[in-house]
Amino acid sequence: MRRERFLARYGPWALVSGAAQGIGAAFARELAGRGLDLLLVDCDSARVEELASEIELGAGVRCRPVDIDLGAGAFHERLLAAIDGLEIGLLVFNAARSYVAPFLSRPVETQLEILAVNARAPLVLAQALGAPMVARGRGGLVFMCSLASLGGHALTAAYAASKAFDLVLAESLAEEWRPRGVDVLAVCAGPTATPGYLATAARLPSWLVQSPEQVAREALSQLGRRSFVVSGVVNRLTAAGLRLLPRSAAARAMGWMMRSVYPG
Ligand SMILES: NC(=O)c1ccc[n+]([C@@H]2O[C@H](COP(=O)([O-])OP(=O)(O)OC[C@H]3O[C@@H](n4cnc5c(N)ncnc54)[C@H](OP(=O)(O)O)[C@@H]3O)[C@@H](O)[C@H]2O)c1
Repeated sequence: MRRERFLARYGPWALVSGAAQGIGAAFARELAGRGLDLLLVDCDSARVEELASEIELGAGVRCRPVDIDLGAGAFHERLLAAIDGLEIGLLVFNAARSYVAPFLSRPVETQLEILAVNARAPLVLAQALGAPMVARGRGGLVFMCSLASLGGHALTAAYAASKAFDLVLAESLAEEWRPRGVDVLAVCAGPTATPGYLATAARLPSWLVQSPEQVAREALSQLGRRSFVVSGVVNRLTAAGLRLLPRSAAARAMGWMMRSVYPG
C-alpha cells in the first residue's frame, strides 16, 4: 500500500506494544517510515524512551514513550489516560511473555502472567481501541502470533495456548470488522533473531531464522489483504506441513522439535 494511502487508512497514530526491542521496535521504525505518529508502549522505560527519541529525530514523526506493564490488572486505565484522546488508527499488539521449560517446573503465577500479557491485554486493547475504529469505519489491528499458535507445543504450553487465543481472536475480529472498514491481521512468526529469543535463535541454523525487520515488513505488506499470514517461506512450509498432519501428530512433531532444540 502506498505511503499516503497507508497513512489515511491507519493513521494518524499507531500504538505498538512491546516496542522497546525486537519485532516491536522493527514495527515502530517501519510505521514511522510510513509517516505514522507513534505511541510506544513497553515496561522498559529507558529503552523505549531512547527508541522514541531516535525515531523522532530520524523520521520526523511524533513519538510518545509509555512505560506500562501490560500484565498489571488495571493497565488499561493508565494506558487510556496516556492515549488522552489521540486518534489511534492502528494497534500492533506485539508484547509477550514466554519461557521454555516443562509446564510443572514453573509456578502458577508465571503461567498467569503469560495469560495476562499475551491474551488478556490484547483482548482489552482490541475492545478499547477497536470500538472507535469501527465507529470511524477505518483502522487496523495486528496481533503477533507464532507457529506455536497452530497447535500443541511441548515445553512452552502456556505460551502456545495464549498465542492460539490471539490467532483465533484476530481471525474472529477480522471477520466481524471487515464489513465495517477495520482490517485485522494475525501474524505467525517463526524463529526470529530478537533480544528475547537470541538463545533460541542461536540453537538453530541461520536459514531458519528471520530478522525482526523481515517480520514487520511482511506483516505490514499483508495488512488489509488477508487476516492471517505466516512470515517467511520456510515458516510457511512448516505451517503447511503441520496442517496436513492430524493435530496429535503435529503436536508430537513440534514436541520432538522442541526437545531436540532444548535437550534435557
Ligand atoms: N522472536 C521470535 O522468535 C518469535 C517467534 C514467534 C513469535 N514471536 C512473537 O513476536 C512478538 C515479539 O517478539 P520479540 O522476540 O520481539 O520479543 P522480545 O525481544 O522479548 O521483546 C518484547 C518486548 O515486550 C516487552 N514486554 C514484555 N512483557 C511486557 C509487559 N508485561 N508490559 C510491557 N512490555 C512488555 C519486553 O520488555 P522486557 O524485555 O523488559 O521484558 C520487550 O521489550 C511476541 O508476541 C512473540 O510471541 C516471536
